[in-house]
Amino acid sequence: MTKIKEGIYWVGAIDWDIRDFHGYITHRGTTYNAYLIKDEKIALVDFVKEPFFDEMLDRIEEIVDPTKIDYLISNHAEPDHSGALVKMAKVAPQAEIIASERGANTLNKYYSLDTPITSIKEKPQIELGTKTLHFVEVPMAHWPDSMVTYIPEDKVLLSNDAFGQHLASSGRFDDEVDPDILKHEATAYYGNILMPLWRTVNRAINSLEGVEIEIIAPSHGIIWRGNPGTILELYVKWVKGATEERVVILYDTMWKSTEKIAKAISQGIMDEGVSVRIHNLKVTHRSDVVTDLLDARGVLVGSPTLNNHVFPSVAGILAYIRGLKPQNKIGAAFGSYGWGGGAKRYVEAEMKAAGIELIENDIEFLYKPTKDEIKKAREFGRSFAGKIKES
Ligand code: FEO
Repeated sequence: MTKIKEGIYWVGAIDWDIRDFHGYITHRGTTYNAYLIKDEKIALVDFVKEPFFDEMLDRIEEIVDPTKIDYLISNHAEPDHSGALVKMAKVAPQAEIIASERGANTLNKYYSLDTPITSIKEKPQIELGTKTLHFVEVPMAHWPDSMVTYIPEDKVLLSNDAFGQHLASSGRFDDEVDPDILKHEATAYYGNILMPLWRTVNRAINSLEGVEIEIIAPSHGIIWRGNPGTILELYVKWVKGATEERVVILYDTMWKSTEKIAKAISQGIMDEGVSVRIHNLKVTHRSDVVTDLLDARGVLVGSPTLNNHVFPSVAGILAYIRGLKPQNKIGAAFGSYGWGGGAKRYVEAEMKAAGIELIENDIEFLYKPTKDEIKKAREFGRSFAGKIKES
């Protein structure tokens, strides 16, 4: 069994296999964290994805008789956390189910529950004996219904989606996994899930001001017990949209022309000593591009023109980035064409709609770029790097 503090246990499930989490590639799987609090009364906070119910139940049975659970607390109704609620409510039919008001509405939309749900408006906190569970709404961190549960006696925050990572591992705590992998997965998680919600995440972080926290236990990945300040500091940086002097180039290519332009631009950026990474969309998944993009200052998007329009893979990632609304980026589009062009205009319109400040340019070449055009692309890379350094 995994004890977090006396009377507080992790009873979640490890999903080693998942590689697609609603469109986000999860190279290292994930966990669905549920927490059991054993006091004079027993509470289960969050559940797991439905197929992992048995794994959670086995873990609960190591600690208590699951039929004796008094409270089932749903911090968030998304099915990766609520999927096992119906089965759990059948195991412990007398348990009171507690959720935010919007959480109750959402749970009732997803499931047919025999037990009515108590809103945290009626019960903003519950006493378990020596421990108290305080419920705090944090709307849009991740869904409108999201809330967190705080246990003041133990200074433990059960933060649900916030501060999570999609990381399956044998270690349950931050001091048991490679810190670089942990930081990478926390970055990928914030970038691909929480980036567009920075205002509400910021509000949630502000609401923690003055709250004593020793342990942050999210609903995915590892539990921050060594130094929860590490992840808090990263979140503060991300919600501010802080950027590094770095450029991300993403492109797709038909006959290598757009690729040649991408590489020429990158050479120009390197000439100026600015860090740059290139992502060929045939090779790199869109969510890995976004992870790299999160704190980069510059973004350049290249597309060939196909049938007077943008290349489909480029259209796909632009739709993804537009939804994620990156902060504080400057960028530009480039590409190649064979007939009348069209991709660059589309890419620019999408980048603008994503909130990216556009640098105008004419890096769009007919068929194969000539030596002079390659030189021009490299020169553009240099001037773009200059803007990155200035901003
Ligand atoms: Fe992990 Fe919003 O669910």
